[in-house]
Order: sequence, then structure tokens, then C-alpha cells
Amino acid sequence: MTETSTRSQYLIDLEDQFGAHNYHPIPVVLEKGEGVYVWDVEGKRYFDFLAAYSAVNQGHCHPRIIKALTEQAKKLTLTSRAFYNSVLGEYEKYITSYFGYDKVLPMNTGVEGGETALKLARRWAYDVKGVPENKAKLVFAKGNFWGRTLAAISSSNDPSSYKGFGPFMTGYELVDYNDLKALEAAIKDPNTAAFMVEPIQGEAGVVVPDEGYLKGVRDLCTKYNVLFIADEVQTGLARTGKMLACDHEQVKPDILILGKALSGGTMPVSAVLANDEVMLTIKPGEHGSTYGGNPLACAVSIEALKVLKEEKLAENAEELGQYFRAEMKKLQSECDVISAVRGKGLLNAIVIKEKNGKSAWEVCVQFAAEGLLAKPTHGDIIRFAPPLVITKEQLKECINIIRKVILTF
Ligand SMILES: Cc1ncc(COP(=O)(O)O)c(C=O)c1O
Repeated sequence: MTETSTRSQYLIDLEDQFGAHNYHPIPVVLEKGEGVYVWDVEGKRYFDFLAAYSAVNQGHCHPRIIKALTEQAKKLTLTSRAFYNSVLGEYEKYITSYFGYDKVLPMNTGVEGGETALKLARRWAYDVKGVPENKAKLVFAKGNFWGRTLAAISSSNDPSSYKGFGPFMTGYELVDYNDLKALEAAIKDPNTAAFMVEPIQGEAGVVVPDEGYLKGVRDLCTKYNVLFIADEVQTGLARTGKMLACDHEQVKPDILILGKALSGGTMPVSAVLANDEVMLTIKPGEHGSTYGGNPLACAVSIEALKVLKEEKLAENAEELGQYFRAEMKKLQSECDVISAVRGKGLLNAIVIKEKNGKSAWEVCVQFAAEGLLAKPTHGDIIRFAPPLVITKEQLKECINIIRKVILTF
């Protein structure tokens, strides 16, 4: 650090020197958040258009969620599951009736939710479906992203996820996303335990399947007695304009995975929901996590779920999402920088055409300069996913920033 460097630069340098280099952040150092806004250490205010990859659907530091967090934190935070705690049962009752499943298995991160769902599916395949020992097959869609563990990257066809980390998990098969014929060919195999899929592929760049795809997945899984696992870690909890993205086609997965916004961005909380036939295949001692189901997480999640419903955040996402995409399409027609606009609710993306060697990264750096934070994915895609508490007035301001940057690109 030199005398003249800013506090931001000092903090960036610290991360660079002492932290692993497994991320490449936009050079902005944040220290405060409220609703749709975050502030950097120099006091500059930004609209947050990433919302921590949809973990902050309820807005930064939502007062009700922070109240639940701090009140519970003063009482009891962790017991482990060696004992019962006074919040877990209430939470389990609340979340299972909220989503209409018999049981929930609480975990922490999204990727642990995915691991849990797949373990349940394998166990169900052996105990209920009658698949021979160690023969269970798990099917995934190409382009999937469900985290960074070895089981997760074993299902990835993105070299930046899996390259250099083999050997990989066996018993996996990949099919094209949005391709029901390919899915049918794969799951016909009587050893198939499950098909795990994101209703909209988030990390792949907000890839929205054709209407009817999820319904088709449901029907095929039912036909072949295969579990339909919906990874709604990113798409769930009001983000796409419904409580779950599966609700757009009124389909109910056999196993539902939630994470991210389940704590409103305060701590890692994930949940796997299923009915008894699936959930009760795992017996005491066969799966778990020290922090899973801790009273702090449970208190926070109940409040985070209540906020989504009581503040009508799905409805807001639906209405403002329509408006946002219409504005982005208008912008697309006014310039030759945007090659595609897509999304559902407030999970949207634009695809940027590279110009003079400049691409989505430079656009995002310019957005930041103008007071809006977004992050590119896969080089040319910019995801726009603000907290769902955003108002139309605020969204209009953001659209003006996006217009200004794109039109001068
Ligand atoms: C669809 C989906 N599933 C799972 C995950 C993994 O969640 P986590 O990073 O909390 O492990 C992500 C993370 O971005 C995701 O987008």
C-alpha cells in the first residue's frame, strides 16, 4: 500500500495477496447494503443488479430478517443435531406446509442441497425402485451448474468447472437441456434414479427452456418411475415471478432443492424437500451436517419466507420483469450491441456482441462507474437480477444507466 492508494485499492490488494485466486471480482469494495442499494468503502452508492447471485431477493439487510437473526443469535445459535432445538420443528412444519411436501432435510449451502438430493435419489432407487446395488444412474442436463464439490463438477460439461479436477463421480449421464427426446432415451434405462435440472439455467447464462419443457420432464419422470429433482437454488423463492420457477408450468418435482434466498442473504441455508417415500429412505446416522437445521438458520428462514409472501415479491418480480425485458428489447433494437435478451421475472440476461476487443466485462466496469453492479458470465452474457424489493421508479433509473452505457459502448 502507498500513501496515495485509496482504501478500496488497499483492500483489493489484501485479498489478492492473502486470498486464493479463485474469483475475479469487479473492482468495487462493498461495506454496506440496504434494500436494492450497496455502498463501497469510499461511500459511493450502487444499485445491486446481482443480488449475490439471487441470495438477496428480499433486499440487503432486510429489517425483519435482521431482527429475527439478532434476536435468535442472543438466545441460541447452534446445538448440532445431537439434540433437539426449540426452532427446528417449527421451521420444518412451516417450510413443508409452505411448499407442500411431507418432510424437509436442512443443510447449509446450495451444493450440499444438491448432494443431499442425489444421495436421497440413489437410496430411493435401491430401496424402493429396486435398482441393483451400485447401478443407480443420475441424469443431468448439459449446461447445469449446482456448485463446486467433486460430485457437482462431475456433472459439468464446462471445462472451467471440471478441468484438472478428475477423476470424477461415476453413474452420471448428461443430456441436452430442453430436449425431451434425449431425456426419454436416457431415463428409459431401468437403473435411472433421477433427473436433476434447473428450471432456468442460471449460471449457464439465464437459459430459459421452451414452454412445456418442465411439464414434459414431469410426465417422463412419472412414466419411467424416475425422480424429478428441481434445483431451484437460484430460480426459486420468487426470483422468476412465481414462488418456484416450476410453478410457471404447475409441476411439482419429487425433490425440491432450495438455498440462497432462504436466508435472505444472511447466512448459508439450504433445504431439500420431498415426500416420505423418498425422505424416509435415509436413516439416522446416514446423512447430515453439523450446522444443518441450526436454530439461527431456522429462525432466519421462517422470516425470509414470510417476507417473500407478505411483501408479494413474486408478483413484483413478474410485473417488473415484463417491463424490464420490454425496455431491454427496445434498447436492442436501437443499437447493435445486444444480440439477445432473455429471462423470466427478475432473472434476466443480455448477450453482448464483442466490439473492438471489448466485451461484457468492460460494459460491467462501466455500469459500476455509473452506479450499477452486474457481473458477466461466460464472457459475453450479463445477468440482471436485482433484489426483488426494487420499485418501478428505481428500475427506471437502472434502465437509464444501462441505456447510457450500452449506447456509448
Ligand atoms: C442452480 C444452483 N444450484 C446450486 C448452486 C450452489 O449453491 P452454493 O454456492 O450455495 O453452494 C448454485 C450457485 O450458484 C446454483 O446457481
